[in-house]
Amino acid sequence: MISPTPEALQSFLDELNGTMCDRTDWGRVADYIPELADVPVDQFAISVALPDGQVLSAGRNDQPFSIQSVSKVFTLACVLGRIGDQLWTRVGREPSGTSFDSIVLLEREKGRPRNPFINAGALVTTDALLERRMPRETLAELLHFLRGAAEDDDIHIDKAVALSEKSTGHRNAALAHYLASFGNLRNPAELTLGTYFHQCAIAMTTDQLARAGRVLARFPDAPMQLSPQRARRINALMMTCGHYDGSGDFAFRVGLPGKSGVGGGILIIAPGKASIAVWSPGLNNYGNSKVGTEAADHVARFTGWSVF
Ligand code: DON
Repeated sequence: MISPTPEALQSFLDELNGTMCDRTDWGRVADYIPELADVPVDQFAISVALPDGQVLSAGRNDQPFSIQSVSKVFTLACVLGRIGDQLWTRVGREPSGTSFDSIVLLEREKGRPRNPFINAGALVTTDALLERRMPRETLAELLHFLRGAAEDDDIHIDKAVALSEKSTGHRNAALAHYLASFGNLRNPAELTLGTYFHQCAIAMTTDQLARAGRVLARFPDAPMQLSPQRARRINALMMTCGHYDGSGDFAFRVGLPGKSGVGGGILIIAPGKASIAVWSPGLNNYGNSKVGTEAADHVARFTGWSVF
């Protein structure tokens, strides 16, 4: 299937925005983080970055939202740049089949989380990025990476969201201390948790996120480049683990690597063809954007970009 022209794609996105905004079942916003509970649910945005540098968008594409777990992709890219394959001694590369915040496998698997995208694995990844540095420097590196990849300096951490999660993040605190009990945290748990909450509280628009994703789509003219092998591997993990226990269903419906966040964002990569960001804050039962997932399904059907 040949990719649609930018004009055809733009009309499709406008129509998709109309269809999505007409709906009444938006899902439920993440209310376990108090700041996110107040986000109006009936919102939708989509942006598609193309290899020629264009970004096509529809809906509320200039509204920053909390990227939450989408940040885990960029932390992973940074940490692999810093310590390479050493990370895999501490974190696995298999789907967990459990929810993002589950603790059950950690006991059985002796504190080595299944993958870097479930919360336990993301805490270890952030901990590895933090090693021998202060949280401020670590977060500055992550923001520098995102701003460079998106070619936009207007990307910031929403401190109210970070503090809101910190005040209620008992499950993540439990995970961090449990990891520490197995010797799989190198920093004090509170430092790792604080860095993780701030990384999750980065706010971006879909335009910015789609631009940042170009680094994974391996566009030759993207402002930042990962090695082909690194980009391939991160995409593989997004495909198999990026939607937690909903990863199989996302691959089945969309057929593209994706990473979701409880803020309602999803970053989707069509290697060599597009970097797509969708946002709609209502979630499905897996904690992934309900309308965002449906929109991704429509995009895959319209464009023929599925890798399968
Ligand atoms: O750690 C948490 O629970 C949140 N900061 C991030 C979780 C998340 O985004 C799960 N993704 N759908």
